[in-house]
Amino acid sequence: MSKVVLSYSGGLDTTVCIPLLKENYGFDEVITVTVDIGQPEEDIIVAEKKGSKYADKHYTIDAKEEYVKALFQLIKANGDYEGYVLGTALARPIIAEKIVEIAKKEGAEAIAHGCTGKGNDQLRFENIFFQYGFKVIAPMRELNLTREWEIEYAQKHGIEVPVTKDKPYSIDENLWSRSVEGGKLEDPSYIPPEDIYEWTCNPKKAPEEPEIIKIEFEKGVPISINDEKMDGLSLIKTLNKIAGNHGVGRTDMVEDRVLGFKARENYEHPAATVLITAHKDLEKLVLSRRELKFKSIVESEWAELVYYGLTNDPLFKDLNEFIDSTQERVSGWVKVKLFKGSVMPVARYSPYSLYREDLVSFDKKGIDQKYAEGYSMFHGLQGRIYKSLKIIEDREP
Ligand code: ARG
Repeated sequence: MSKVVLSYSGGLDTTVCIPLLKENYGFDEVITVTVDIGQPEEDIIVAEKKGSKYADKHYTIDAKEEYVKALFQLIKANGDYEGYVLGTALARPIIAEKIVEIAKKEGAEAIAHGCTGKGNDQLRFENIFFQYGFKVIAPMRELNLTREWEIEYAQKHGIEVPVTKDKPYSIDENLWSRSVEGGKLEDPSYIPPEDIYEWTCNPKKAPEEPEIIKIEFEKGVPISINDEKMDGLSLIKTLNKIAGNHGVGRTDMVEDRVLGFKARENYEHPAATVLITAHKDLEKLVLSRRELKFKSIVESEWAELVYYGLTNDPLFKDLNEFIDSTQERVSGWVKVKLFKGSVMPVARYSPYSLYREDLVSFDKKGIDQKYAEGYSMFHGLQGRIYKSLKIIEDREP
């Protein structure tokens, strides 16, 4: 009995994969697995229903806790790849690990997924599947199927196809972000219609009054909103609602995929925008100038590893150790103002603050300003010497 485990979303592509894996690839048994990383509950229910109906066996695995833990690390790292908040990217290895667990338990010889050959997800998934020695099957990539063919094939196999009119976009959604791509959006010069957005209201229609919210962090991790302590999952969900209501967290960008393609991407991520903005603001209060500068280099390496799905590279662990060490002091709170699509830090506090009012204040003495005189004499010394060189002056027109 040959078994294959299929990473299953419940959509047409992965549903068509079920009979295909038997007919085209000769498997006797197809087991579908849907991993819950905070996508809409309806999606999970649909996947469970269809998986149980069309496959030989279905599993729904809850990975929300693992995902939140990974998101906490992302917040500490101010996770950002070219302006993208990394929601899909960070989730993929977590999903892949869960699928591997089932594949091992079921004694499957291969793992299948519905990714195409043009995106990043095939690379992120397969890196983990190969790590455990599984054979990988990617029907979408191998067979170049069109939607018309899929619909006909589905109907022939008694798979009901939802009667929605042409689904114009490819959407990927989880707790951290919602991504919309494809269709007309593939033209970067086309302005997206308002109806691609679901998590964020049009800033024009957002409340006329700004809202100030207080976010408390402990060692780089958010722990409360307006002094109400919450677990990570509720905190992120709550912030998605509050900030989405103010139209905060939209991104329309061109992104460099791993394979080299440039892709037009539209994202929604209200909680991510608020949390990263607040977290960065708190870091500016407590980290030294040198730490901030060096950490930004570490952050860009960290984000690239996540985007590429290379979180099993030992460098990822090394970078996380540095990041964790910097976060020991990132405790305190930040107040941010939400208003018509914008989020702005307006106040911050930390017991670890490196800010010294007595030193910097216009009104207080604290330190004798005359000391700066000597410093200033040396500051810019080489530039002044350079500017005074006769030999250079003569050459300039
Ligand atoms: N561009 C993002 C990434 O590579 C998101 C992709 C989401 N997929 C989708 N079908 N919308 O992580």
